[in-house]
Amino acid sequence: MSSRRREILVTSALPYANGAIHIGHLVEYVQTDIWARYMRMAGHEVTYVCASDAHGTPVMLKAREEGIAPEVLVERFRAEHQRDFAAFGVAFDNYHTTHSEENRLLVEQIYQRLEAGGLIERRDVEQAYDAEAGMFLPDRFVRGTCPACGAPDQYGDSCEACGATYSPSDLLDPRSVVSGTTPVRRSSEHFFFRLAAFTDSLRAWLAGGAVGAQIAQKLEEWFAAGLRDWDISRDAPYFGFRIPGTRDKYFYVWLDAPVGYLASLRQYCGSEAGRSRGLEFERYASPASPTEMHHFIGKDIAYFHTLFWPAVLEASGFRRPTAVHVHGFLTVNGQKMSKSRGTFISAATWLEHLDPEALRYYYAFKLGSGIDDIDLNLEDFVARVNADLVGKFVNLASRCAGFISRGHGGMLAAELDDLKLYQRFVEAGESIGRWYEAREYGRAMREIMRLADQANRYIDEHKPWQLARDPAQAARVQQVCTQGLNLFRVLMIYLAPVLPLMASRAQTFLGGQPLDWADRARPLLSHPIAAYEPLMSRVETAAITRMLEHSRAAPQAAPPSGSQPAPPADGDEMITIDDFLKVELRIATVLEASEVEGADRLLRLVLDAGAGEQRTVFSGIRAGYDAAQLAGRQVILVANLQPRKMRFGISEGMVLAAADGEQLFLVGPDAPAPAGARVS
Ligand code: 2FM
Ligand code: ZN
Repeated sequence: MSSRRREILVTSALPYANGAIHIGHLVEYVQTDIWARYMRMAGHEVTYVCASDAHGTPVMLKAREEGIAPEVLVERFRAEHQRDFAAFGVAFDNYHTTHSEENRLLVEQIYQRLEAGGLIERRDVEQAYDAEAGMFLPDRFVRGTCPACGAPDQYGDSCEACGATYSPSDLLDPRSVVSGTTPVRRSSEHFFFRLAAFTDSLRAWLAGGAVGAQIAQKLEEWFAAGLRDWDISRDAPYFGFRIPGTRDKYFYVWLDAPVGYLASLRQYCGSEAGRSRGLEFERYASPASPTEMHHFIGKDIAYFHTLFWPAVLEASGFRRPTAVHVHGFLTVNGQKMSKSRGTFISAATWLEHLDPEALRYYYAFKLGSGIDDIDLNLEDFVARVNADLVGKFVNLASRCAGFISRGHGGMLAAELDDLKLYQRFVEAGESIGRWYEAREYGRAMREIMRLADQANRYIDEHKPWQLARDPAQAARVQQVCTQGLNLFRVLMIYLAPVLPLMASRAQTFLGGQPLDWADRARPLLSHPIAAYEPLMSRVETAAITRMLEHSRAAPQAAPPSGSQPAPPADGDEMITIDDFLKVELRIATVLEASEVEGADRLLRLVLDAGAGEQRTVFSGIRAGYDAAQLAGRQVILVANLQPRKMRFGISEGMVLAAADGEQLFLVGPDAPAPAGARVS
């Protein structure tokens, strides 16, 4: 290992702020976090940043659907995502948002430099337009019958049934996902970044080894096909940053998203934590930077990160990435994650049933540096975690700890019993470290488990439980167990990038000494340890079954790639009778009904809720009801629903309505029940 202290900026792809983090996302965050932690343990200056990817049509529409401002939606998901990441031990130095002042300033600066460099071209583009919703439609917001195979209800860019790709206008009966109407073709002016001008410099950058072999080959294909200009603008309405000098054009979310890496870094550099570390934004961002910038991404967004992003950086006078590390997708039991099989598992659901570090270990065991997909086979997961972590690794500590605390007042012996064996463990850290750095985590895990086998064999051979029966052997018992615990400690150091939460518990157990990579060479001798508490428990198959059931019943998590709208929930979520009994229903009368400006699904209802109480409720029934016809009508009010703050005011309850798939029906009271059938 070279001893030079490297300054390294590390990023994971910014998750869209419109859906929950799921186990597919976690492959990347776990992979990145392990790398950042290892590099830090090895003594480098590592800064790991991320942010919410805030902009774009899906976020805008989801906020609209909920009747809230997109900023509110983004902040809600940002908090939720941060909570999930923290629970999985993913430790960012900073977590910002692309909807921030830092990002706006950087994006505008970049754009101005591109413009000044003659790299922006304006051209008219014809696109699908939803005349009713008054907006241009991204391909994924048009659905219809596949022109190739006739499969109904396919996206506007590709068919999930036959794999054909096409454009929305090729669909046989296209309709807008937003309004359900047939889109028309409409033209508007768009801004293009002249990517092709960077063909040679991109080739040179890639020749420097910024990507692995599989992606390099993909890039060769892209170069061979010729690089096309990149459309960086979108028309209003759009949630994003307005392009300076225009009235109604916005930067495409994919222009400002990667800039968010730098914006997050810049915010961090200006924060107290960043300043106390002496971090300077310019040092990291300038073209001749002595620092490194490593992006971790999934293979679906390689084009953005290996072509657009480095070209934009170069064109605007910033440094380019040192490396773009690309991983494959996650399958569960050999198949795509699926809601109906219960394998579309959100981070939060996992946490309710299973240990987050069990997943971290399994992913580490499966991960290599390539872009092949990795499979979470749940049966194998249970067996692997129980055999390796519980059976081999944690067991080492639990086999030795009791003898030290019971027989020796918690004090380790003054010498190791088998110094040679210990040295072999220490030396193994060289290759394990290299595998971590090369993202060959699977090889690192296998080597660590091979060592754990050796350590267990040592204990089996020396049988401290037998020695302990003979009081004359007390010193031997202490020595053997000191050896065992020191081997355990070296392995804990090796596993710490993968199991940071366990490592911190083990650190307490081992008397608080640091667990950096170099500390492995200094055994703990004549040192007090704390009482042993179990470091991990077995994974039970029943917990997996419960998790799958839970997941099957839960509302739909985020779509696998955030670029498409969430599919509707399967509608099979069950509530219990206890849930239902909590709902307080009241008959109320509509006093006033009016349309809500800026929310084309909502009506504002003022209700007489009985006993002289008035309530204002925002209700999504505008598609079926005319405001003018509602006054005087009786409705059923959910009276104990928590008031919800919306963009237009506070909604103090909900009125019941049901749909039969086509039409919407407000639910109202029947004629009064006959006498004698009164409720008590
Ligand atoms: O594909 C995605 O989920 C994007 N939100 C990733 C953005 S990465 C970066 F460019 F910001
Ligand atoms: Zn098809």
